[in-house]
Amino acid sequence: MQTITIGLLGLGTVGGGVVKLLQEHAAKIEQTTNVHFVLKRVAVAHLDKPRNVTLPDDTILTDQLDEVLNDPEIQVIVETMGTINLARQAITQAIYNHKSVITANKDLLAIDGPRLAQLAKSRHVDFLYEASVAGGIPILRVLSSSLATDQISQITGIINGTANYILSAMTSNNVSYDKALMNAQKKGYAEANPTNDVKGIDTANKLSILSQFAFGKALDPNKLGIRGIENITAAQLASANHFGYTIKLLAIAKRLANKLYTFVGPALIAHNDPLAQVDGVQNAVAVESNALGSSVYTGPGAGAKPTANSILSDLAAAANDILDYDCGSEFNNYHNELEPCSLTT
Ligand code: NDP
Ligand code: HSE
Repeated sequence: MQTITIGLLGLGTVGGGVVKLLQEHAAKIEQTTNVHFVLKRVAVAHLDKPRNVTLPDDTILTDQLDEVLNDPEIQVIVETMGTINLARQAITQAIYNHKSVITANKDLLAIDGPRLAQLAKSRHVDFLYEASVAGGIPILRVLSSSLATDQISQITGIINGTANYILSAMTSNNVSYDKALMNAQKKGYAEANPTNDVKGIDTANKLSILSQFAFGKALDPNKLGIRGIENITAAQLASANHFGYTIKLLAIAKRLANKLYTFVGPALIAHNDPLAQVDGVQNAVAVESNALGSSVYTGPGAGAKPTANSILSDLAAAANDILDYDCGSEFNNYHNELEPCSLTT
């Protein structure tokens, strides 16, 4: 069995979920990938912070990002810190150090994803980010595999778990906006600063990433008209319900005659629409495409384990590419310090 060595940046909701799943699913991961993943180093901001996750005995906890990024044994960096500039710097350094990168950082991806992807390509490493859109739903993989040859005309998404959780709690459980937001924060759904969640900015960032995959066009989130849910009242939700509608924070990108039209904001959805049934932290992405017709993908849009599962699926893909590369792919001469490959255990 081959070994792949990982460095993790961040040990919060998502990073902690990655550590837990690597431990809980170790046997299944090894069986599926034929790879033994070793978590060598983890970087955090606060070394002394109490944590609800136990690192493996040999894993080194540090507050120095460079110790992780410059470790020559580490082959894959998993970035779960958030922020834009620090993460951009760390990811760039990792790529220059010939490490594959996996990230959940949609804020960064929406403004700089294509450039970083190009950089990674030029350095022959993977840059994967399934967890950045709709948490646990493998929507980027669906768009880039099963739907890659189809012609997509529209994508409609409920793609912010926090906003959907708040609207659902206000509608069904009579919970106040403030209390619902607090609960979403406690459950680890909300961003460190939840402004982007409730103002629709996180939704716009994710729509930008989805558009890259669906239409080959990265939208500039700063140029989108964006409205959030922060002014939606319980009375408006009750009134919508009375007339057979529910209010959801929607993201839409629609292609019409070679132009892309977008919408990000709260919208009325009829009770009999499948998207109206998507409640709590659940997300959904509905795709209209020429060959497949209508398809809807639903699942948890935030939270530790669903998001970590998306990261682990990227980890399996990156490991596969690293081993292919190691075993004589087109890049064989590129990394000539690698050991010859053996696939036997
Ligand atoms: P958290 O705030 O829970 O965790 C952030 C982690 O980053 C913390 O462990 C923090 O360290 C660490 N960190 C911050 N600054 C530094 C630094 N300078 N050096 C080293 N480590 C640092 O965030 P989440 O886990 O919720 O989110 C992480 C990323 O995943 C974000 O990009 C977010 O948008 C994205 N995401 C989150 C989802 C969710 O459900 N929460 C779902 C999908 C994506 P310390 O613990 O010491 O403070
Ligand atoms: N804060 C985000 C949400 C996390 O609530 O959807 C998942 O991207």
